[in-house]
Amino acid sequence: MTPRVGIVLGTGLSQLAQDIESEVSIDYGQIPHFPVSTVQSHAGKLIFGKLAGVEVVAMAGRFHYYEGYTMQQVTFPIRVFKALGVELVILSNAAGSTNADIEAGDLVFIRDHINIQPENPLRGPNDERLGPRFPDMLHTYDRDLIWKALDLARQHDIRAHSGVYLALQGPNLETPAEYQFMQRIGADVVGMSTVPEVLVARHSGMRVFAVSVVSNKCFPLEEIKETSVDDVIAMVQKSESKVREVVKGLLGGRDGSFTK
Ligand code: HPA
Repeated sequence: MTPRVGIVLGTGLSQLAQDIESEVSIDYGQIPHFPVSTVQSHAGKLIFGKLAGVEVVAMAGRFHYYEGYTMQQVTFPIRVFKALGVELVILSNAAGSTNADIEAGDLVFIRDHINIQPENPLRGPNDERLGPRFPDMLHTYDRDLIWKALDLARQHDIRAHSGVYLALQGPNLETPAEYQFMQRIGADVVGMSTVPEVLVARHSGMRVFAVSVVSNKCFPLEEIKETSVDDVIAMVQKSESKVREVVKGLLGGRDGSFTK
């Protein structure tokens, strides 16, 4: 089987894997060079099967830079996706909202990002067989898929937006002054993942669709509450069915769907 779509399931979002008619499921520990996930709520399996009639490979559990991995380790699975034949990468994550109109539980389809993580997975000698030295980032997030996702959300009465994701190192959450800064520089949502994988996916010429599930509201400052990882997971799990609906809708579209 050649998966056409690679899916990365973020914090609290592993249940989507249950919708996959699974042919094979492989523990990360059995795959050469694959790191092993250390974070709560990340299952640590690569799942091959069909979702909405499309052959997919899904990572239940991703790797974060804050866990101590190098950026090359964090993004190794994206290189594996490419080698397997994947054309489209779908990423999901939990994120804080720095936009007063975006509430906990809402979905945000990422239309652009601001990367302030301290390292870049493309740093170092470039292997031209994998992609160009200076990959362009103008068309990073697939516009057609964002429009389709917004349309699907509307049909299913799901509160959804398109927005700018700001990537931070973590693992601490941010101070009020930091959230305010992020809001001012144009972030709608903030989180600790996704952008390294996006950079590598674009470097290797794959299309990208990414969705944040808002777990906590960080703006205006009066609305910030203390947030634990359990709060994040609980809120994301409440919205998980919305992500499942949108992803399945994107793949299973009547028009032969996600391919251009
Ligand atoms: N900040 C950074 N990452 C996050 C947050 C946040 O507020 N919520 C979920 N992931």
